[in-house]
Amino acid sequence: MKHSISSLVDEGDALTAVWRGGERTALPYLWLRDNCGCGECRVGQTTEKRFHVFQVAADLRPQRAAVERAGRDDEAIAVTWSDGHRTRFRSSEIHALIGRPQREMEYWDCRFQPRRFDYGRFLSSDRTAADLIEEFLRTGACVLIDAPTAPDTAEQLVSRMGPIREVVFERIHNVTVDPAGYSIAHTDLAIAPHNDFTSYLWPPSVQALHMLTNECDGGDSLIVDAFAVVDGLRRDRPERFEELCAVPVPFRLFSEKDESCAVGPMVELDVEGNVRMVRFNTQQMQPIPLSQPRLRDFYAAYHDLSARINADAAQARFRLEAGQLLLAAAHRVLHGRTALRSRGRRHLQDAYFEHDNVRNHLTVLRRTGRI
Ligand SMILES: [Fe+2]
Ligand SMILES: [Zn+2]
Repeated sequence: MKHSISSLVDEGDALTAVWRGGERTALPYLWLRDNCGCGECRVGQTTEKRFHVFQVAADLRPQRAAVERAGRDDEAIAVTWSDGHRTRFRSSEIHALIGRPQREMEYWDCRFQPRRFDYGRFLSSDRTAADLIEEFLRTGACVLIDAPTAPDTAEQLVSRMGPIREVVFERIHNVTVDPAGYSIAHTDLAIAPHNDFTSYLWPPSVQALHMLTNECDGGDSLIVDAFAVVDGLRRDRPERFEELCAVPVPFRLFSEKDESCAVGPMVELDVEGNVRMVRFNTQQMQPIPLSQPRLRDFYAAYHDLSARINADAAQARFRLEAGQLLLAAAHRVLHGRTALRSRGRRHLQDAYFEHDNVRNHLTVLRRTGRI
């Protein structure tokens, strides 16, 4: 038996499992009761939880608890509660819940080149799709090559990446030099690294940039791993990192027809303190109200972040040719381009997706045994 419990100690509000190696794990009573897997506590059809924690007393206690054999090579904690309900929980399942989920990310700098995958194989081969998604979750950027150059080809990605995330403006955005365009992307100017739609409270979390035509000199693509940059800043200047997490910054994108506005910090953390989103878009940033008490310190931090993002050392560069698509984990990877130097035709289309849906596809491929 791989994970075996040698004894259970009643602590008053938790049972502590003492594993054979001596390691101890506290199992709060309400946690044990809440996760009961019995037929009464679950929806039979779906295995979803049916039990609600309010249905038992807050001071629920076990009447009896013991370790029993469960099958050939597992055992279970068997609890009879003070209200008579019985819960059995396998030791192996409890052990699997001890560790913290790991984030498998590889940070990168200017030496990075996104891995290239064949467009047709990404769509037709589950193995290639899984390889791409694993790479995408690790590095946040991949390139698809040999894709069609017809407009709206990005619609085909839906089968692998989930539904298109629409925003106001177009469903699939056309980026060409356009004197009537509403953003810097419609000019021939260089575009510094940024993520799109910082003017949304939840900006799209995946972006596909599909080059249809690129007969222009200049306009090379550049990408930045903003998580790596922010991680460096956090180590070097923790007090500046703190400002970037704390100060809400307004962003706005508007056209004649539509307008989007959102306020959020440049660095957003999850509850464990991991960076989960960088919101960085100089061209769409609006003045921070002067009533913001941390304004001076924020600007020192923002200056530092801006310098790091715009440093050559952070920017991976490559040329996106016609028929190539850059996929970017858009809460992490910033994109930009060098200035367009000639009047040659250049047509890029942007489509947005959601990171959860891309991850979901990998989970489904694994669960259904397709890979
Ligand atoms: Fe953009
Ligand atoms: Zn139950």
